[in-house]
Amino acid sequence: MKRVLVVVLVLAVLAVMAAPTFAADDGARVFAAKCAVCHGPDGAGKLKGTPDFRTAEFQKKTDAELTEAIAKGPKGKESHAFAKKGLDDASIKSLVAYIRTLKK
Ligand code: HEC
Repeated sequence: MKRVLVVVLVLAVLAVMAAPTFAADDGARVFAAKCAVCHGPDGAGKLKGTPDFRTAEFQKKTDAELTEAIAKGPKGKESHAFAKKGLDDASIKSLVAYIRTLKK
């Protein structure tokens, strides 16, 4: 009985430790699938008009600003409103976290 408890405890600790990694992976996966086509695989910008996510200047934007741009579109651009296109809050949050990792 005691052994089972130890195993459960170890698994719980591992799950908690692994959780942030899963979220970051998720952001990378969603970015590659839905964003890289315009923003480039490294976030440097590909389509005309896309900003370079890697610059210090771009990274000054707050998480709230990035979240809003992804969810509702930059400057309210409908075609960029990913909340309406099926991305849930957790996915958008992991995308923002992923964009932070692109910093040069
Ligand atoms: C069809 C092309 C396209 C796709 C796909 C796309 N974007 Fe964009 N995105 C743009 C363009 C163009 C801009 C610049 C718009 C502007 O500043 O007017 C932009 C701007 C942004 C910005 C900056 C907003 C700001 O405040 O300057 C963020 C963040 C962003 N996109 C994130 C994403 C994420 C995350 C995805 C994937 C879920 C994504 N984009 C998919 C074209 C795209």
